Amino acid sequence: MGFGRGKVILLGEHAVVHGYPAIAVGIEKGVTAEAKSAERDLLRLSPWNLALRPDPQGDEPLERAFGAVLALYSDRPALEVSAEVELPAGAGLGCSAAIGVAVLDAIDRVLRIERSRTDLAEAALAWERVFHGNPSGIDNAMSAVGGVALYRKGDPLQPLRSNKPLHLVIGYSGASSSTKEMVASVARQLEGDPERVNKAFEGIEVLVRNAKLAIESGDHIALGQLLDFNHTILSSLMLCTSKLEEMCQTARRAGALGAKMTGAGGGGCMFALAPKRDEALRLCGVLGEGAFVAEVSA
Ligand code: PMV
Repeated sequence: MGFGRGKVILLGEHAVVHGYPAIAVGIEKGVTAEAKSAERDLLRLSPWNLALRPDPQGDEPLERAFGAVLALYSDRPALEVSAEVELPAGAGLGCSAAIGVAVLDAIDRVLRIERSRTDLAEAALAWERVFHGNPSGIDNAMSAVGGVALYRKGDPLQPLRSNKPLHLVIGYSGASSSTKEMVASVARQLEGDPERVNKAFEGIEVLVRNAKLAIESGDHIALGQLLDFNHTILSSLMLCTSKLEEMCQTARRAGALGAKMTGAGGGGCMFALAPKRDEALRLCGVLGEGAFVAEVSA
């Protein structure tokens, strides 16, 4: 069975597209996929009941992405791939990267191709580029490799170690957004006002560096404050919605150590850092429908 995890970016989204570091975690929820030889190439995606053929020139991005992935394999039989998606799409949890990683992993398995998870992440960029235009690579790296890691475009993923697990509660705002559009909006702001936006990115970099130390030393109080600061900077880049703001405020008032939107923004998910497991479960109830707990060990 092929598998691609979802991910939560703890700090550094958007800045990571422009070469700054970010910290992310892989979560257990993700995408599983199975491939078998068939009469013709086909990708089935549930729970959406989609069945599509690869088409490198097609209008539908999923058809182009499937075509881009199949083009990586020479001399292969026709393949039918069935993927089961457990993540909300367009919600900041790396759904599209997880599908790409799971599909490639499933094809590798049926064709008995041995590839490291790092190489799998690299190959999955072919899929991700169709959706995101200019992906930093963090989604597919975390989807394939998982754990808690610091990522900088072009560098190997740097795993972070700690003896204290992170208790995260992920809440869904109910609205989806397009990563491509949100990334383009930041690029426009950068072009229009480079001083302001570069300052924002530099501020985020300082938060990421400090968060690395906080995670490694198990100082989750400091980590929570850094998440709040990062959230404020992302809001200043107009990436946050009023629903996400409200959910972060609710989580903080209910005892979260910090709360932040995650991923592209403009909708999608936020997460809160809880001091311990039972607090995470309580916060999950407060964050409403679609909220779930992710315990992540570094
Ligand atoms: O919203 P998602 O899961 O697609 O995450 C996007 C993260 C960005 O930093 C906004 C884009 C990227 O390619 O890193």
